[in-house]
Amino acid sequence: MAERTQVAIVGAGPAGLFLGHLLHRAGVDTVVLEARSREHVEGRIRAGVLEQGTTDALRAAGLGERMDREGLVHDGLHLTFDGAQHRIDLRALTGRAVTIYGQTEVVKDLVAARLQDGAPLRFAVEDVRVDGREGQVPVVRYRRDGAEHELRCDAIAGCDGFRGVCRAAIPARVLTTWERTYPFAWLGILADVAPSTDELIYAHHERGFALHSMRSRERSRLYVQVDPGEHVEHWPDGRVWHELHERLASDGFALSEGPVLEKSITPMRSFVAAPMRHGALFLAGDAAHIVPPTGAKGLNLAMADVLALAEALIDGSPAALDAYSDHCLRRVWRVQHFSWWMTWMLHRHPGHDPFQAQLQRSQLAYVASSEAAARTLAENYVGYEDA
Ligand code: APR
Ligand code: PHB
Repeated sequence: MAERTQVAIVGAGPAGLFLGHLLHRAGVDTVVLEARSREHVEGRIRAGVLEQGTTDALRAAGLGERMDREGLVHDGLHLTFDGAQHRIDLRALTGRAVTIYGQTEVVKDLVAARLQDGAPLRFAVEDVRVDGREGQVPVVRYRRDGAEHELRCDAIAGCDGFRGVCRAAIPARVLTTWERTYPFAWLGILADVAPSTDELIYAHHERGFALHSMRSRERSRLYVQVDPGEHVEHWPDGRVWHELHERLASDGFALSEGPVLEKSITPMRSFVAAPMRHGALFLAGDAAHIVPPTGAKGLNLAMADVLALAEALIDGSPAALDAYSDHCLRRVWRVQHFSWWMTWMLHRHPGHDPFQAQLQRSQLAYVASSEAAARTLAENYVGYEDA
């Protein structure tokens, strides 16, 4: 079956869905193609910290209603190390805040909006092949329900995540990649218990990093650093809670336990591919870059790409389309540095090199005591807008 649209969007994660929404509102025809089922896409548990720039963009696009009702605005965060908790006042340092609202909820809102708009969103497509070579009509081929489909378009948006097909469709000779894997991973739990803290706690401890986050006033999301080769079967609930008690401990803090609803291990990686455009194929979100989760930047970076891509595609001029990749990469590298730095500062490094451990503690003490150092963390955490 042959079909035509203006922009073919591969992937219905937050990047693909938000791009589809922005373009649809601007009167640009789009088709979104997704390999997985709607249930799978809406059920994935991912991070949950939205920068103010992200919430502003969602609101401006008419997607703020449930987020404003259910999201939790946080004016600060806590750093715990050497048994003491230190608050970083994001609002006082930057004038801005972050909102706790799960990526899962953002995705549900985006799917609902697209279906309500009656815009094409095809789940469970198979064998997607993209061809955006210069000098010919861009085309996306795929199979659905056993039938072969051909989607001709003006541009292809590769929003298919780190393991998608779009980045792989760019010839290796034009793509430069940078990659770092870390010698640790995060084991995360979703627990049916009210958070034991009003604001997130990032803890540096000699047993390893821990994070107390949340999804709502009733649900906690917590993480402990584990070895990258770990398996969840080795981490019964009691062991996870034990580590959380040890690592999050500080004067006056008491951790409440509750039923564990989900448990999974997240690998940690930094990755960038450039340029983010080749011919009529544009990459956005995890398809082009990955950050370790320590700064909670993955979703925010994907949303920033998509705002820039929507603007370039709506403008449509060669100058606007040419500027997309460099524009995004400036922010991508700032965020890469911040995510790497937070990761470096907070985790236990293998071997526990004593010199490095002292540098980490000195850096943490500096951030906790110097307004200039705290502001550096804060302005990156809430989203540095100049990049
Ligand atoms: N064809 C169609 N869809 C595909 C294909 C393919 N060949 N390969 C992958 N996909 C889909 C995935 O099933 C997924 O739904 O593309 C989507 C990509 O979504 P994400 O991985 O969520 O990536 P992105 O939208 O860029 O969002 C970035 O999500 O992964 C987190 O930490 C990340 O928070 C960040 C955010
Ligand atoms: C989360 O709530 O899942 C979360 C919060 C902050 C992070 C990473 C993940 O830095």
